[in-house]
Amino acid sequence: MLNVTKDNITDVFKSYMADDMAPRTREIMSALVQHMHDFARETKLTHDEWRQGIAFLEGCAAIETEDRHEFVLASDVLGMSSLIDMLHSSDEATSSSVLGPFHVSGAPPLEVGGDMKRSFGGPVLLAEGVIRDTNGTPIPGAEIDIWQTAPNGLYASQDEDQDTFSFHGLMTVGDDGRYAFTTVKPVEYTVPSDGPVGGILRACGRHPWRPSHLHFIVKAPGYRTLVTEVFPDDDPYLDQDTVFGVRDDLVMTYVEQPAASFPEGMALSGNVDTPYLSVNFDVILARD
Ligand code: BEZ
Ligand code: FE
Repeated sequence: MLNVTKDNITDVFKSYMADDMAPRTREIMSALVQHMHDFARETKLTHDEWRQGIAFLEGCAAIETEDRHEFVLASDVLGMSSLIDMLHSSDEATSSSVLGPFHVSGAPPLEVGGDMKRSFGGPVLLAEGVIRDTNGTPIPGAEIDIWQTAPNGLYASQDEDQDTFSFHGLMTVGDDGRYAFTTVKPVEYTVPSDGPVGGILRACGRHPWRPSHLHFIVKAPGYRTLVTEVFPDDDPYLDQDTVFGVRDDLVMTYVEQPAASFPEGMALSGNVDTPYLSVNFDVILARD
């Protein structure tokens, strides 16, 4: 008879695993259960507290839909999404940052120099840069999938008043690796906090805000796909991004430009009769 105790239960768990199980599964399950058991022993977790944890998971599952990914949001606000990103980022490439739940596949093509702002109001932003390899050489034909909030702080998928692909675009760069588009400067916004994840934020005395950002997924054959974001350096939430997405190399100065001065190559964006902002953000991709 095996006498299971609070001190040997972790080793007993490990001894139950079959000899022929996949080695990586063994490594992950052993470490997971080790840390969970240590956590319960360290905090002397009560039945009631563990039940609250299970109720949290059940609450996430209950509101999960195609457009609402509460488990992903939990991973984001607990720092797991960002930690896993950073564990697998190349040191030579542009930093990766959270994907978030609002990316929509199948964005319409956006020409280099094109316009994403349509007739939306708000500060005009010209975003441009070059997609480069780690030697600084432009990568011809790289593809950049772009998305952001509308000026009301909502992504298209959250907002009945926007069409599916408003503030989404898919750009393929030319031989010079250059991308450029005009848009409205994205605003700071709150991640959804009306579900169980909002409960965690409130219990920890945390706010649900993210700093303003543009999202990019950058792809090129032979290179590692990069999911990243760019932030303005004057945003009040840079030091408190609720999903831990800010990295030094992703924070850029948005420069004020005089009215009616879009540079060459922006004919598709028309012109602006007000001063506007510009950000220059080169993206470096690592080889596969
Ligand atoms: C976003 O930036 O779109 C996002 C990221 C994590 C959670 C919620 C939203
Ligand atoms: Fe976002």
